[in-house]
Amino acid sequence: MKNNIFPKKSTTKEQILGTLKAMKAKDAPWQTGKVFAYIYKPSEDVTALINEAYTLYLSENGLDPTAFPSMLVLENEVVRMAADLLNGNEQVVGNFTTGGTESIILAVKTARDYARQHFPHIKSPEIILPHTAHAAFYKACHYLDLRPITVPVDKNTFQAIPELMEKAITPNTILLVGSAPSYAQGVVDPIEDLAAIALKHKLLFHVDACVGGMFLPFAKNLGYNVPKFDFSVEGVTSMSMDIHKFGYAAKGASVILHRNADLRKFQLFAHSGWAGYSIVNTTVLSTKTGGPLAACWATLKYIAAEGYQNIVTQTMEGTQKIIEGVTKIEGLKVLGKPVMNMVAMAADGLSVFRIADEMKKLGWFLQPQLATETSQENIHFSVILPNVPHVDTMLVDLERCVSKIKADADENMLEDGNNGLLTAVMGMLQNADSQTFAQLEQLVGMENGQLPENMELINSLLNALPVAERDFILKEFMNRLYC
Ligand SMILES: Cc1ncc(COP(=O)(O)O)c(C=O)c1O
Repeated sequence: MKNNIFPKKSTTKEQILGTLKAMKAKDAPWQTGKVFAYIYKPSEDVTALINEAYTLYLSENGLDPTAFPSMLVLENEVVRMAADLLNGNEQVVGNFTTGGTESIILAVKTARDYARQHFPHIKSPEIILPHTAHAAFYKACHYLDLRPITVPVDKNTFQAIPELMEKAITPNTILLVGSAPSYAQGVVDPIEDLAAIALKHKLLFHVDACVGGMFLPFAKNLGYNVPKFDFSVEGVTSMSMDIHKFGYAAKGASVILHRNADLRKFQLFAHSGWAGYSIVNTTVLSTKTGGPLAACWATLKYIAAEGYQNIVTQTMEGTQKIIEGVTKIEGLKVLGKPVMNMVAMAADGLSVFRIADEMKKLGWFLQPQLATETSQENIHFSVILPNVPHVDTMLVDLERCVSKIKADADENMLEDGNNGLLTAVMGMLQNADSQTFAQLEQLVGMENGQLPENMELINSLLNALPVAERDFILKEFMNRLYC
């Protein structure tokens, strides 16, 4: 205890809980229903059930299904429900994971190890990603030492272009990826066409249904135009589907599914040759609480198809209102044609980052998305059930903010007067060292790692920088944020 930081004496329960509650007050105010990202909060009765089920399994350990057979039963039931929803037959197998990222890492690991066995001549394996594929695939490549090959998508529809995906295939390709839908614009890739390409070239094909898996089947039942995206499409070999998103389970709930157990073999890890107990894992984690699994199982059983149908009906109505409302405001537009409750809103001649700042002053939390080679910068809405009653007020406030910004003279921070800043930052990044970030902080008005209330300048700066420089800054920032 070098610095006397570790507590010497116990703190009372009241004090501890009081501190925790007070600290939460500074977080995004999701209880208001005014946060359009990050939170997937169900109704109060579901929340109460989740709390109980989670706590019941808090101490159980998913490390060993033979010691905790009830967790095996729960996991198998969750997997069977997920496979059923995604039109998988009894051959389809899967596992419960902590989230979309873990499911994707496991899908990519499966492809890597499948290729190692079946195509041992491949020394530099590549996976082909439409530009809209989630960053988790890049993370998987980063962790597993694979090469991501990014393919441009259609600049109007934001969907993968099958011809370009096929053109990107080389003798090193081990996996194709499609999204149902992609997070950024909420559009589904042409899964049937991509699957046909995968079959033709004898490649594995992963469909990322992290956000769509618990939504699109119900939207389809309700008559919405949902293209085929699941195991009913021959050639789809694996799918990821998050239940902690539009399944409204507690966080830490996703499923990775494979077309059959022969494929799933490559997901597993075993090591019995060290000094301790034999390890055999289906997922990345070893020791893990049973809380998320029990809560997920309970949520699926409780909400059930009729409940999800109802949620999808309401959130689709809210989404439709947002699409119509945004389209009516001069200068704003929706990117692509979202198939579900996720919408990207862009602005012409206005800073979306200032819109996000102005809306924040009115209590709304909207998520900015930076410009990429595929799309201009925009604001993302994920519409969940508690947002729906607030959609009309949000649109009124949005129109007010846009009018206010239009009335201001200095429309875009980087275009009007701050271009010198961008040049200065680019210059500093040329020879970046440990001092660079401290200087950058000063330039953008940050103190002691604290972000300013108004994020427009920082967002505009990041937006204008090349991706490599952005990533450098983001990592530096994170590295300083945590002690
Ligand atoms: C399409 C898609 N895939 C993967 C992920 C990653 O999921 P997670 O944040 O649960 O790791 C997300 C997250 O939003 C997503 O939208």
